Amino acid sequence: MSAKKILVIGELNVDILLNHILGFPEVGKEILASNMSTVLGSSSAIFASNLASLGAKVSFCGTIGQDAYADIVLASLRKSQVATQFIHTVSEENTGATIILNYNQDRANITYCGAMDSLTSDLIPWQKISEFDHIHISNFFIQKGIRDDIIEIFKRIKGYGVTTSLDMQWDVEEKWDFDYKRGLQFIDIFLPNEAEILKLTKSKTLQQAIGKIQPYDGYLVIKQGIKGSRGIHKNEEVVCPAYHLKPFVDAIGAGDSFNAGFILKFLEEASLEECLDMGNKIGAISTTATGGTKAFENKKSIEKRLSQLH
Ligand SMILES: Nc1ncnc2c1ncn2[C@@H]1O[C@H](COP(=O)(O)OP(=O)(O)OP(=O)(O)O)[C@@H](O)[C@H]1O
Ligand SMILES: [Mg+2]
Repeated sequence: MSAKKILVIGELNVDILLNHILGFPEVGKEILASNMSTVLGSSSAIFASNLASLGAKVSFCGTIGQDAYADIVLASLRKSQVATQFIHTVSEENTGATIILNYNQDRANITYCGAMDSLTSDLIPWQKISEFDHIHISNFFIQKGIRDDIIEIFKRIKGYGVTTSLDMQWDVEEKWDFDYKRGLQFIDIFLPNEAEILKLTKSKTLQQAIGKIQPYDGYLVIKQGIKGSRGIHKNEEVVCPAYHLKPFVDAIGAGDSFNAGFILKFLEEASLEECLDMGNKIGAISTTATGGTKAFENKKSIEKRLSQLH
């Protein structure tokens, strides 16, 4: 079977990771971090990079500035074989950056959006959409140029007969302004985490949230961190436990890596359980190296890790 073609539409930024910080920073004071790295960041790009590393043919549509961070973004995507011809350079803007303060299994982030705000619907390669099998969009609340048009964008994409997925991610403004009752009819796979679906649906329990999403013909996939994941499709509900791998380094990009594993299996027409299980495996592998993509740099080591997970 030939590799499936996926277009990812989304935000691009670097992650500046500060590790081993002694205490929490306070205004007017200074603390030290004993380790720093600057790597490919952004939910959409981590997803694209890891999906390509797993063997899919992935193209990216997004916006960067004209600076050293743009070079890091492009070089990282190209290294993992992501096609970059639909990435636009906005010379008057800086490439986005997220500064991540890592504390054990959790982290504090600050994002500067910069050029990512310049991605608008008219930069999507509409004349090429039908050449792809699947379109994925992530993190739209943060992207000012597409967030108000997100449902129209999905509706138009569906008109080309391809499958679609959305990981909406956290809404930094906490408005959760997404009309899911209308929007989800154009989305085949909806991939929130537990906290996000509770906020979106204004629910107290997961069962209440799932009930509010129904009726939904697509795949509702809920990521639950160290607990694993849960999938609901038509009358089927499957709960899949996480894999715990050593060493645990950080959980940056675990959700995007999960998405890559799930969608890879979905495009192979695997069962819901197989899709969830592959999502959990790829999510767990991502936690074994620093940042969102490092654990997927070496194809042989991914295969070895996968063969060890049962
Ligand atoms: N500490 C962990 N150990 C093992 N597996 C993990 C861990 N954290 C996440 N995973 C796996 O990765 C999947 C996705 O992670 P998570 O639920 O944190 O998604 P998320 O909140 O969307 O993440 P992100 O912050 O990357 O957006 C989980 O369902 C689980 O399978
Ligand atoms: Mg997430």
